[in-house]
Amino acid sequence: MRVVILGSGTGSNAKAILQAQGDGALGNAEVVQIIADQPAAGILRHGKTFNVPARYLDPAPFKTKLEGAGEDLYIETVSELKPDLIVLAGFMRVIKPRFINAFAGKIINLHPSLLPSFPGLDGIGQAWRRGVKVGGCTVHYVTAEVDAGPIIDQASVRIEPEDTLETYAAKVHAAEHRLLPLVIARLSQQRQA
Ligand code: GAR
Repeated sequence: MRVVILGSGTGSNAKAILQAQGDGALGNAEVVQIIADQPAAGILRHGKTFNVPARYLDPAPFKTKLEGAGEDLYIETVSELKPDLIVLAGFMRVIKPRFINAFAGKIINLHPSLLPSFPGLDGIGQAWRRGVKVGGCTVHYVTAEVDAGPIIDQASVRIEPEDTLETYAAKVHAAEHRLLPLVIARLSQQRQA
């Protein structure tokens, strides 16, 4: 199963996926390309470390969504990679129907809350400020409605009295790093079966 990862930031989840691949724990999945919409995104460095091609792809003209010329470029570039799965791992940009329809049923997203609670920006901060006692993360299929597509799997994290926003965030990220590679491995096995 050919996997393309799209990200914007640090890329700790891309790193977890590549580490799982190196450990033989990614099922039949193979990451063939990492694409970032920010030229200085840390995610691009992980490609080098793990010997997977990584590149910046210009998303212009918009800042928060993928539409117009940027959308055309992303559709064309990603299509050439013939992906079976596109993983949004911290891709901080709204994906529009044209891109979604070009890869129907093949795009998954990682979100740092137990959806449908706390969609949108800063899922960790939203949960923390609301005072929930159980938070976590979600992997779901991407549909036109932001953070609302069918849920594939979730991992929960307890917020203990001694937790701070920082320790809670660290727990969510650790849960993400376990969940996302597992989901990819499972999908790769289902799809090859
Ligand atoms: C992750 O926590 C992911 O859940 C979040 O961005 C972070 C990326 O971290 N995604 C969203 O908030 C999407 N709405 P990373 O760059 O270290 O993988």
